[in-house]
Amino acid sequence: MKIGIIGLGFVGLSFASVLASKGYSVIGVDVDKEKLKKIKNGVVPFYEPKLQSMLKKSLKNCLKVSTNISDLEKCSLIFVTVGTPQKKNGEIDLTMIKNVTNKIGKLLSKTRYKPVIIIKSTIIPRTTQRVILPILQRLSGKKIGKDFGLVTNPEFLRETMAVHDTLYPHVIVLGGDNNSFMKKVRKFYYNLHHNVPIVLTNYGTAEIIKYANNSFLATKISFINQIANICEEIPDVNVDDVSRTIGLDPRIGNLFLDAGPGYGGSCLPKDVKAIIDFSTKLGVNPTLLAAVEKTNKQQINSIIELIKQNIGKIHGEKIAVLGIAFKPETDDIRDSVSIELVNMLVKLGGKISIHDPKAIENARKIFRDKVKYLNSVSAAVKDCNCAVIMTAWNEYKKINNESIKHMTTKFIIDSRRIISNKNLNAKYFAIGLGQKL
Ligand SMILES: NC(=O)c1ccc[n+]([C@@H]2O[C@H](COP(=O)([O-])OP(=O)(O)OC[C@H]3O[C@@H](n4cnc5c(N)ncnc54)[C@H](O)[C@@H]3O)[C@@H](O)[C@H]2O)c1
Repeated sequence: MKIGIIGLGFVGLSFASVLASKGYSVIGVDVDKEKLKKIKNGVVPFYEPKLQSMLKKSLKNCLKVSTNISDLEKCSLIFVTVGTPQKKNGEIDLTMIKNVTNKIGKLLSKTRYKPVIIIKSTIIPRTTQRVILPILQRLSGKKIGKDFGLVTNPEFLRETMAVHDTLYPHVIVLGGDNNSFMKKVRKFYYNLHHNVPIVLTNYGTAEIIKYANNSFLATKISFINQIANICEEIPDVNVDDVSRTIGLDPRIGNLFLDAGPGYGGSCLPKDVKAIIDFSTKLGVNPTLLAAVEKTNKQQINSIIELIKQNIGKIHGEKIAVLGIAFKPETDDIRDSVSIELVNMLVKLGGKISIHDPKAIENARKIFRDKVKYLNSVSAAVKDCNCAVIMTAWNEYKKINNESIKHMTTKFIIDSRRIISNKNLNAKYFAIGLGQKL
């Protein structure tokens, strides 16, 4: 069985590499020629643990890459994994999805093959039926269910765990009509993951499942951040003990209960914004999700206030931001809250130095010459009046009195509580920890 995958980012390249490493014949398509060149040479164009070795194995097996969707003509299954970012107003931006759908429609018009088009990208409810299907039928002149299949198949992988989650997903969701094309997709997944629940549903339900999933995770984070803010006002109270304990209640669960500077990354912020926008347009006031977003934004505002309270003003002051990636073990900085923090500090006139073990090259593309880029923690904090730990990189857990000895004023904000047990010769504030009595 030949498989096509359009869009070789975190989702598409992980999926392509895992399938090819298992012996499937896979053709990956992307418009980014630089990216494809790297992939062809066995180099993953972003940092994702374990993907490099998986890619090398898959290139030795049956992974081919191309810029041309026509190369997918003989594929039985064509997965779409292009980006679905947000517009400025929060609405989902379907430009890439429409672009790819146009090309697939033209491909269908010319072929005698009957593939199933499977949408893995996160798309707002009704996109499959109201946007993708009409384009495919119009441009191909062919009929769904007879000449081609169309299935919505949202992806749930986590960056930094992309290979693991592609190998061992917790669920497979398939939305669409229960016809022979759906049976083919179901069989493909059953063969790939024998013991994973497969949920068969319609398009709209499959689409909203993904948003419900991400909105719930964002809600957990904003919830624990609000509890953390309360904890900070009670001497000696520790939010980690609170989250660890409530997480033992099986009704709550322990994941996504790490208090911090707010959720970021390529999925939660954009998906929460998109569902808020969608819900509002439907006439359903998204009160809870709006509060989740507002609480999230407040975390960075609180850090700025804390800096002002402790060093007086930000204008002209040297401040270090440690960690730009939205979480450790990735170089992905899309919608990272560190970007928001740095931008706000720069706007207030701060002289900002930044450090990140993996994401500095991506950070340069955003901040250009507005900040200084340092390649060690001690260099980044040198001469600073404040250092803010934003990402829980292991490297930052090693911060000690030696690393901060050249700070002008030793004031540290630890948004992840990763050095709370160090006896630092510094004024120390951690999100979610009440001050020591
Ligand atoms: N990153 C995640 O953790 C994650 C998890 C679950 C779901 N998702 C969803 O999966 C989708 C993809 O996310 P991602 O993080 O892999 O995105 P990404 O930006 O890393 O990759 C998308 C790729 O699509 C390519 N592309 C864009 N237009 C194209 C076209 N016309 N033809 C061929 N290729 C094209 C881009 O060059 C890029 O390489 C999004 O909808 C996202 O919301 C992402």
